[in-house]
Amino acid sequence: MEQNKVLVLYAHPSPQRSEVNRHLFKAAKSVAGVTVVDLYYEYPTYHIDIDKEQQRLSEHDVIIFQFPLYWYSTPAILKEWQDLVLEYGFAYGHDGTALHGKTFFCSLSAGGKAEAYQTDGYNHFTIRELLHPLEQMAALTGMQYLPPFALFGARTAQEDGRVKTHVTKWVTLLEELVAGNVDFEIASRAEKLNHYFEAHLVKERA
Ligand SMILES: Cc1cc2nc3c(=O)[nH]c(=O)nc-3n(C[C@H](O)[C@H](O)[C@H](O)COP(=O)(O)O)c2cc1C
Repeated sequence: MEQNKVLVLYAHPSPQRSEVNRHLFKAAKSVAGVTVVDLYYEYPTYHIDIDKEQQRLSEHDVIIFQFPLYWYSTPAILKEWQDLVLEYGFAYGHDGTALHGKTFFCSLSAGGKAEAYQTDGYNHFTIRELLHPLEQMAALTGMQYLPPFALFGARTAQEDGRVKTHVTKWVTLLEELVAGNVDFEIASRAEKLNHYFEAHLVKERA
């Protein structure tokens, strides 16, 4: 039985060149209980339909941004989506309670290697730190924030055979979210959702 309705908001400016995200996007479409939206496809000129997007949010329990990391952040359309859709009176402020009790996280890929995303590493910050504006967006709008589900070293992932295993984990994660088997309290404390996945979901399925 479906416990949670899951919404994946996919943002890739050049999906035809994607080696990682297009496979995640395609796989997510086949999971029952998951709605997948291709934002760049739906809004090539960034004219986001605010009512439609707010309606989608209201109808789902778990909201996921799926994207390739661009300049340590989301591709531009996800920022525009936030700026337009998360209105006062809907997402925050007086009577702005539409998102209360929902869960939010990012599913992202990054060109940099995992070890580069450390305080003393090449990129100086952890991925969770770099996503702080989104974590606070979730806090302000009353959503429980989970750490990102991430694939690093994206450019060599295909040749290393890591895309296939990541897609398999992604599908399992989505299925477990739909089934209500993800412990949000425990998951929220991880640095990456990948850690929660390895520690809890794999064991329980084995
Ligand atoms: C404009 C642009 C900005 C990027 N910024 C970053 C970045 O800040 N950090 C990083 O690790 N990779 C960065 N990358 C690499 C992408 O994250 C990487 O190519 C992508 O995650 C691969 O996924 P895909 O095969 O689905 O496109 C950037 C790539 C582009 C084109």
